Amino acid sequence: MVFKKTYSTLSSEELIAKEKSNMDEQRFQHCIGVSETARKLARLNHYDEEKAALAGFIHDYAKQVPVEEFIAAIKDPANGFDQDLLNWNRAIWHGIVGSHFIERDLKISDDEILTAIKRHTTADVTMTTLDKIVFVADFIEPHRDFPGVETARKVAFANLDDGVGFELAHTLEFLVKQRAKIYPKTIAAYNVWSIKKEN
Ligand SMILES: [Fe+2]
Ligand SMILES: [Fe+2]
Repeated sequence: MVFKKTYSTLSSEELIAKEKSNMDEQRFQHCIGVSETARKLARLNHYDEEKAALAGFIHDYAKQVPVEEFIAAIKDPANGFDQDLLNWNRAIWHGIVGSHFIERDLKISDDEILTAIKRHTTADVTMTTLDKIVFVADFIEPHRDFPGVETARKVAFANLDDGVGFELAHTLEFLVKQRAKIYPKTIAAYNVWSIKKEN
C-alpha cells in the first residue's frame, strides 16, 4: 500500500503510521479493506483510483478518538460546528467532526476527500461519486460479515447508486429494529436513494 503525495504533504509511510497509531488493529484492517474496495469501485465507475483508495483508507481515522476530544472540537467556536452535534455520538461524530482531525493530523485539505469523510457516517441527499464510493466500500469491504452482505456486494458492484440505496435501506432497518435514534440527514438520504422507481 503506497499513497502518492498528491493529496497530503505527508509521505505515504507517515500517513500509514499515523492512521495505524490512532486505532486498534481490527479497525486498521477494516480501513485497508475499505481502501481496496474503494479502489475497485473507482475502477468500475471510472473515478480516480488513487484518490478513492486514500479516502477509503483514512475514512475511520477518528473512529476511536476519545469522546472528550470530539466534544472539545465541537464546542470550539473556531471550528464552526453545529452545536446540535452535542446531542449525538461517536458513530456520527467520527465522520462529520472526524474530517477536522484528518485535516489537522493527516494534512489533507482536498474538499472532495473531506466531504466524503463527513458524509460516510450519515449519507446525504446529494452525494458525489467519491462520497458514494467511500460510503459503499465501508459497507461491503471483505471483512464485513452480516446477513445480506453478499447481495450488497453484488448490487453495489453492478451499480453504485443502487449500492447506496441498498445500504441506506439496510442500515435504517437495522436502526429501527434497535429503536435507535436516526440522524435526520440519513432519513432524507433514504428518501432520495432507496425508493423504488415504480413507487
Ligand atoms: Fe466510519
Ligand atoms: Fe468504516
